[in-house]
Amino acid sequence: MSWKTRVKTKINIPRDVFFRTNFKINLYFKQRFAREFLLHATALRATNTTDVTLANYVAMYRDRMDTIRNARLTDAEGWITRRLCNRDDEEEVRARSKELLTDEIVANPMAGGTSRAMVTKVVADLLRSRPGQVRSACNIGAFVDTQSAYLAPRFPNVEFTSVDRYVDLDKINSFLPQSPNWKFRSGYALDLLQTGSLAADLFFMTSTSVCFSPRELEAYIAAFTKSCRFAVFNEPWWPSLQSLNLFKIPRPEEIRPGDALLGLVYFKFQSNYIYYLEQHGFDVLMSQIVPTAGASWYTLQIIAERRVGGSRS
Ligand SMILES: C[S@@+](CC[C@H](N)C(=O)[O-])C[C@H]1O[C@@H](n2cnc3c(N)ncnc32)[C@H](O)[C@@H]1O
Repeated sequence: MSWKTRVKTKINIPRDVFFRTNFKINLYFKQRFAREFLLHATALRATNTTDVTLANYVAMYRDRMDTIRNARLTDAEGWITRRLCNRDDEEEVRARSKELLTDEIVANPMAGGTSRAMVTKVVADLLRSRPGQVRSACNIGAFVDTQSAYLAPRFPNVEFTSVDRYVDLDKINSFLPQSPNWKFRSGYALDLLQTGSLAADLFFMTSTSVCFSPRELEAYIAAFTKSCRFAVFNEPWWPSLQSLNLFKIPRPEEIRPGDALLGLVYFKFQSNYIYYLEQHGFDVLMSQIVPTAGASWYTLQIIAERRVGGSRS
């Protein structure tokens, strides 16, 4: 079922990667989830469902099911917080900041890069292919923003903004090389967009929009239309936790709008990006599922451009 969307996502996954992810990892996590769920349901080993951590699959599943219909974060104010609270936090952020992007890595992220290098390549290629069309670019869910640290000096005519929930976002990024055309905004990006205090010609994100419930994702895409011309998503993508078909790599356009699949391992939301983008007046220029540099999951990469005067089709 493809919900009358125009674009079909390309799947470019080599056979060995498919075997590892769709069979080995898929089987391992499905049996683990089924076992923990049954032990909990039969009270043979009840789980603390308030302890939502990666080690607690029942709690993670419950949490996702409890939030899947939400339109936005329920406690956005409480969610905005300080990140660097002690020495360990600083060590972690310093270590992440060492993942410096270079021209070689960005040119070929699969040779030693990460998902951050992958999104940087997509954004850099887009900026080069559309000279002068993007004057401002914003990374939502930026955290340690190696991407803007790399892009800002190479595109001095573009103003880069990193946005995340951390009030000390500038300090978090202070271990990276700085540029005059790179700044920071703390807050809940959806609120900033909806109130008009955050605008950009290009929004991009990596490993972030899978944290959004489907309605929240649609709200972000709707809010993008206030200012942006381009949206880039570079998101982890898995076989669905709930599907028994081990051969299946779900395409986003097959997912029921308003609903989401849960990906393996982190149980993140996998939604119908294509439907929301097209509904809100974007043309999807590229949608593909590819291997992730340095990781076992797949990556969904989407580039969308807003039609001038675009509206619901
Ligand atoms: C997994 S981290 C990815 C960080 C960074 N993009 C990277 O790839 O290293 C997800 C980021 O998205 C932010 N985030 C999570 N949920 C969000 C939401 N509902 N709205 C905006 N940002 C969110 C988090 O604060 C976090 O920094």
